[in-house]
Amino acid sequence: MAGISIARAAQVLRPPEDGLRYLRQDRAGELTTAPGELTVDGAAIAAFEASRDAPIQIDASGCAVIPGLVDCHTHLPFAGWRAHEYAQKVAGVAYQEIARQGGGIRSSARSLAAATDEDVLAQAGAAAAEMLAHGTTTFECKSGYGLSVAAEARSLRLAAALAARVTQTVTSTALLAHAVPDGYDADSWMTAIAEAMPQLLAAGRPTALDIYVENVAFSNDNLRQMGILARRHGLALRAHVEQFSTHGSVPVALEAGARSVDHLACMPPDDVAPLAASETAAVLLPGAAFLGDERLEPARELADAGAICALASDFNPGTSPVNSLPLIIGLAVRRYRWSVLEALLACTLNAAWVLDRPGVASLEVGLRADLLILDGPVDQLPYRLGHNPVALVIVGGELVHVRPDQAWRVDR
Ligand code: NIG
Ligand code: FE
Repeated sequence: MAGISIARAAQVLRPPEDGLRYLRQDRAGELTTAPGELTVDGAAIAAFEASRDAPIQIDASGCAVIPGLVDCHTHLPFAGWRAHEYAQKVAGVAYQEIARQGGGIRSSARSLAAATDEDVLAQAGAAAAEMLAHGTTTFECKSGYGLSVAAEARSLRLAAALAARVTQTVTSTALLAHAVPDGYDADSWMTAIAEAMPQLLAAGRPTALDIYVENVAFSNDNLRQMGILARRHGLALRAHVEQFSTHGSVPVALEAGARSVDHLACMPPDDVAPLAASETAAVLLPGAAFLGDERLEPARELADAGAICALASDFNPGTSPVNSLPLIIGLAVRRYRWSVLEALLACTLNAAWVLDRPGVASLEVGLRADLLILDGPVDQLPYRLGHNPVALVIVGGELVHVRPDQAWRVDR
């Protein structure tokens, strides 16, 4: 047979039942981590037992086998970095103030405009390789650094080009309302993108629309309009809300049928219960929250209330130049007082729900074999903060990454 046999794993992370689209966070404790073995045949998981016949034999003794990690919120592709803004933020200048001075998203839009397609793809491709080595097997791209119809269309085309050249599964979100472009106000820009939708959709086939609601960006009314636009074009709605100040955007997003609300540091406590009762995921971004010294998100409360919680890197040159999901898991466990199972659920099954990509992040017979072999048990993941625990990465049934010190585990 063609395939990979994984023997003697100390832990195999499995869902409580097969076929789940998501698992509410108050049920994370039902994930199991029993010892086990696994055979991959072709692109899929074939059995939870080892096979002597498989041409690639992996010794997973002492290891955890977990699904590939899903980064459901990144701002790839972007050009350059903004380290000087981080120094300003550390010195006490607010993100909104940096934005008003022409920095922030506008500064990244200028960098993207100045970069060639090949420059952008080289930077994003290098990041994707780094993410793969840290266990990310599926990730989302967002546009949003275009700030004109033509440049947003280019950004969507670049996301599609990136998808074609990286190992991971890539989804594309059109973040069409990120900062208000010069020559427009928020409302006239919303009108412009509504008219340009056919051109934008043709550019890169995004599966979701996104909007940033904030006093320096767009309003709840614009969020409603984006919801209408998403429905009209058969796309999911995502929303950056309640990051730096409170706007009461969660009920608006729920009413608009959003797939996710992301950030949430300034979300009012009364919004926890309705969000938790919905199928809208709460996407928490502890890298951005930590580096931006944001308020603590109500992540413990959301988890206890049974929300569909997801974790992501928010990888972008402004608020979160972090793309390591193991590091994000470490931050989430410490800051949110989450168990490691809660954190793992939030960047596997539930993150796949956010991207509407069922089957890329759960260990079940017949599902796509995107999986990681970690160099120790799962509780080491948050504890050894900053250590990369990923020993081996399998994507679509192919062994695509072997950490050099772990090569002894592989016999082919
Ligand atoms: O998710 N806050 C809005 N958007 C991004 C940051 C974009 C940037 O600063 O470049 C975020 O944090
Ligand atoms: Fe973001």
